[in-house]
Amino acid sequence: MTKRSEFSSKLGFVLAAAGSAVGLGNIWRFPYLAAKYGGGLFLLIYLFFVITFGFAIMTVEIAIGRKTKLSPIGAYTALSKKYGFIGIIASVVAFLILPYYSVIGGWVIKYFATFLMGGQSATSQDTFFTSFISSPVEPMLWQILFVLATLGVILKGVKDGIEKASKILMPMLVVLSVIVAVYSVSLPGAMEGVKYFLIPDFSRFSVQSVLAALGQMFYSLSLAMGIMITYGSYLSKEDDIEKSVKQIEFFDAGIAILAGFMVIPAVFAFSGGNEEALSAGPGLMFVTLPKVFNTMGMSRLVGSLFFLLVLFAALTSSISLMEAVVSTVCDQFKLERKKASILIAITAIVLGIPSSLGNGIWSSFKILNMDFLSLMDFLTNAVLMPIGALLTCIFVAYVIGVDVVSDEVKLSSKFKREKVFKVMLKYIAPICIIAILVSSVLSAFGIIVL
Ligand code: PHE
Repeated sequence: MTKRSEFSSKLGFVLAAAGSAVGLGNIWRFPYLAAKYGGGLFLLIYLFFVITFGFAIMTVEIAIGRKTKLSPIGAYTALSKKYGFIGIIASVVAFLILPYYSVIGGWVIKYFATFLMGGQSATSQDTFFTSFISSPVEPMLWQILFVLATLGVILKGVKDGIEKASKILMPMLVVLSVIVAVYSVSLPGAMEGVKYFLIPDFSRFSVQSVLAALGQMFYSLSLAMGIMITYGSYLSKEDDIEKSVKQIEFFDAGIAILAGFMVIPAVFAFSGGNEEALSAGPGLMFVTLPKVFNTMGMSRLVGSLFFLLVLFAALTSSISLMEAVVSTVCDQFKLERKKASILIAITAIVLGIPSSLGNGIWSSFKILNMDFLSLMDFLTNAVLMPIGALLTCIFVAYVIGVDVVSDEVKLSSKFKREKVFKVMLKYIAPICIIAILVSSVLSAFGIIVL
């Protein structure tokens, strides 16, 4: 058997895992949710979850990966034969997310290319986004390009592909984020937006805001999809797990906060402080922001930089998704890495077709009133992911015992937050995960409004 690849350093691991965590979730989803659920209040709740549950579950996944040196299915099976199916759920989530994530990745490349070529005024037209995503062929071509870029990195392997790409892309992403955030905050009228984003409005506290923050935390930290297990399996026994988790979380929360500064003040400045403009939801990034950039001057430059940084964020996330699936396929079916990678890339392209066409010629095909892309997003993030996370908590807390994880962490360092970790995993996390699961399913059937 060939020796399992390893990251060459802890920094390489942290940047790769942070690359997975920082993605469309931070830049597109976080500001929109923060806007919807009371600005600073949402931020506070979110940060609380990141340092409590997020910390506990990410520690579990990385430790399981490093202990077993296997991808998710093998890792769970190695710990307990009967529970390999939790790994199957995790791998299926990653496998299902990859196709539609790359459809959106394709849209980002299209926007970047359009701004770069000087087409910024076209992007600010009301119809630009919908007519683009509803056309049958063009979005698919961009999606294919996105998948191929991801494949290019995966084919080069863990050290020369994933680690190197993360070491280049992540620092650039931080620099670009700071530039765009400073630009946005300095716009006339932006200060109101900064206040809105930072000062908690406790009167807006609601159960929904808590659930939304929890769901966002799982998604944004790439938990419960086997990714952190896979990356953990490439981590050396000497590297400090607890510190790594803290650094990954710092990165992820930092970019989410910067994204809040990029988006919320700019939209406030643009709309003259009208909060309505922020409720554009999914269209915020592709419809509202190009309009904002266009009225503000330097739109070609700022727009290109912005979509380039979004592209980097999306790429490092899709790299992690593809890696989780490829390493599972290699381990389970004893397939050679190159063959597995090409196979998965082709599958991602083909399975992306319904997600792409669902916005156009197949838009009348709806399940639970959702187009295909939204349906996949719902099934993976709102149903399978919480189920996987819940099973993981129960498995670790009550089947193999939390000490299996603590002992693995303690191989390379002290475990300072061991107590918090144990309480979270045994009692609090399972209850909260059940709450997310029930509420998102009820809301999909229209029984409650989230
Ligand atoms: N964590 C990523 C983000 O914030 C999303 C993601 C989900 C990445 C699943 C990989 C896998 O966008």
